[in-house]
Amino acid sequence: MKQMAVFASGSGSNFESLVKFWQDSAEAAVRLLICDQPGAYCLQRAESLGIPSFVGQPRQHGGKVAYEAWILQILQEQQIDFVVLAGYMRLVGPQLLAAYPERIVNIHPALLPSFPGKHAVEQALASGVQVSGVTIHVVDAGMDTGPILYQEAVPVSSSDGPADLQARIARVEHRAYPRVVAAYLAGDVVLEGRRAIWQPEALGCVQEGRKEHAPCS
Ligand code: GRF
Repeated sequence: MKQMAVFASGSGSNFESLVKFWQDSAEAAVRLLICDQPGAYCLQRAESLGIPSFVGQPRQHGGKVAYEAWILQILQEQQIDFVVLAGYMRLVGPQLLAAYPERIVNIHPALLPSFPGKHAVEQALASGVQVSGVTIHVVDAGMDTGPILYQEAVPVSSSDGPADLQARIARVEHRAYPRVVAAYLAGDVVLEGRRAIWQPEALGCVQEGRKEHAPCS
């Protein structure tokens, strides 16, 4: 049984989709939420879903190093194997990266390497692209620079405002993110350098939204 922690800063709709995907699974479970924003809606979702949450900010701990040491202690006490970032608005520092090498993933609401960082949806609209999308990647020390596990295109309409495009992207995120994480945990997608090599059946699970838990077979 793989034990996962989710890190979030905001609404937590991806957090909720991840928790629900593994409810009743023997393969994996979301065990806890780390949140850096007191009052964020993800904390209410955690309470409703019965998932323990831990709230902290670097300034309460005297800086980022101590903040991440606090997080790492929680992860180790709870025997967490894998970390899923879901709208977590901070760069992950060297201690956590070293403790979880290639065991931290992130989702970004654009087709990287276009539009990294904050306000990706607004950046895409401002640039006039007709296709944007979702990227799920392994986390490294950079800002949205790690090896890409999965991308999916999302069309942009000329009448879209940020909320329209965000909602279309969110529907893809909620289908794809748990299934890509499941495939990665199961070894159905592996990295060769920066390139992701997929088992076709597992990729089909992601694209078609089939409900199988990992391994997709
Ligand atoms: C998602 O669009 C995700 O791609 C980005 O932040 C947003 C989080 O949304 N990293 P939510 O908090 O999961 O609803």
